[in-house]
Amino acid sequence: MSASIKDRPADTGARDGKLSQLVDWIDARFPMTKMMQEHMTEYYAAKNFNWLYVFGVLAMFVLALQIVTGIFLTMNYKPSAAEAFASVEYIMRDVEWGWLIRYMHSTGASAFFIVIYLHMFRAMMYGSYKKPRELLWLIGMVIYVALMAEGFFGYLLPWGQMSYWGAQVIVSLFGAIPYIGEGMAEWMRGDYFISDITLNRFFALHVAAVPLALIALVVMHILALHETGSLNPDGIEIKERKDSNGIPLDGINFHPYYTVKDLVAIVIFLILFSGVIFFAPEMGGYFLEHANFEPANILQTPEHIQPVWYFTPFYAILRAVPSKLGGVLLMGGAIVVLFLLPWLDRCKVKSIRYRGWTYKVALTTFVVSFIALGYLGMKPAAEPYTTLSRIFTALYFAFFLFMPIYTSREKTKPVPERVVYHG
Ligand code: HEM
Repeated sequence: MSASIKDRPADTGARDGKLSQLVDWIDARFPMTKMMQEHMTEYYAAKNFNWLYVFGVLAMFVLALQIVTGIFLTMNYKPSAAEAFASVEYIMRDVEWGWLIRYMHSTGASAFFIVIYLHMFRAMMYGSYKKPRELLWLIGMVIYVALMAEGFFGYLLPWGQMSYWGAQVIVSLFGAIPYIGEGMAEWMRGDYFISDITLNRFFALHVAAVPLALIALVVMHILALHETGSLNPDGIEIKERKDSNGIPLDGINFHPYYTVKDLVAIVIFLILFSGVIFFAPEMGGYFLEHANFEPANILQTPEHIQPVWYFTPFYAILRAVPSKLGGVLLMGGAIVVLFLLPWLDRCKVKSIRYRGWTYKVALTTFVVSFIALGYLGMKPAAEPYTTLSRIFTALYFAFFLFMPIYTSREKTKPVPERVVYHG
């Protein structure tokens, strides 16, 4: 605990050494040690975390990577319809290390979504969204939506064919909303079509507004997490069993135990990340689409317009419905139902380890549907893809809509008192 400047003796004599004196000096003016204790050295996490628990820290790491590489890209990028495409080529060919920074940023965008999808899947496996972590989940969902907006705005910036026509399709979707839709789409574009004006505002949103919101949301996410404490693969609240010092019996200090483990994850991530950057930065057209190597052409629509892979599950849902408005509503609904998850799941048991077969089957069906929709969203809107999209859309929604029924009747296994840990 740090004392205020007033009631602290000038020299306590308790610590010696210049570094300790500096720490004391800072602590008397800013709660540095207190914060480190609260969030690192004396933050107790369950000792049985598995590898699925590294994705939160990896998401923070990728966020930092995107911000740093983004700042360097901004130094040479020109947000104007006349110069944007050429400025990206200039970064790739003439700016020293420009190619590396750009590939780190473009690969980073896909890596961010891979990490986030695994992070969310972990929460669904172990019931991390359940009481008392509902708000933590909701903040996570707002982060997810902000991240999608960030990806969407960023995708227009290179001003390639897919940037242009992708934005055209997505913005015009708002036009399907009765009465206000057309006005909304025009307001978003700032013009009657995607133009230089649109590019300018998307740039402002991509480099300033959304990243600031993301940082603030991540801080809130961590504060909410540290209020309730992390859950674990057994879904047991470790705070309920403490020793005489008030320390959870199954808890270990986040630092150094998990900081060290998370560092291993960051190193493995960087090895895989470098592999993609150096050997397959376009990832066969999945991370950087082929059509985007051509400058935007207002007069020529590409043969197939499709968003980047991380949006395709929702794109497939949109196209599964014949009516435009119906498709837009269903696509919005696919995201809204995720927000409701903590209230749809009625099962008392949190972790999948002790839940019944119904939830295991339902979660597997959901994951298969999501991946299948992702694949179908990349295919042309023709048979058999349309029928398959409809089937998987129905399965996606069935997971949520029938959840209150199948989770309240679930036959669960007994949950152990203490976490299961194999040293
Ligand atoms: C920039 C994006 C994000 C960052 C940096 C982030 C960061 C973190 C970190 C560091 C943790 C603790 C470590 C861990 O459990 O993995 C965590 C936990 C959690 N996050 Fe996220 N997160 C992000 C996005 C999301 C999203 C999109 C969701 C879901 C919609 C989500 C839901 C959760 C939940 C439920 C937990 C608690 C897990 C538990 O205690 O079992 N997060 N997050």
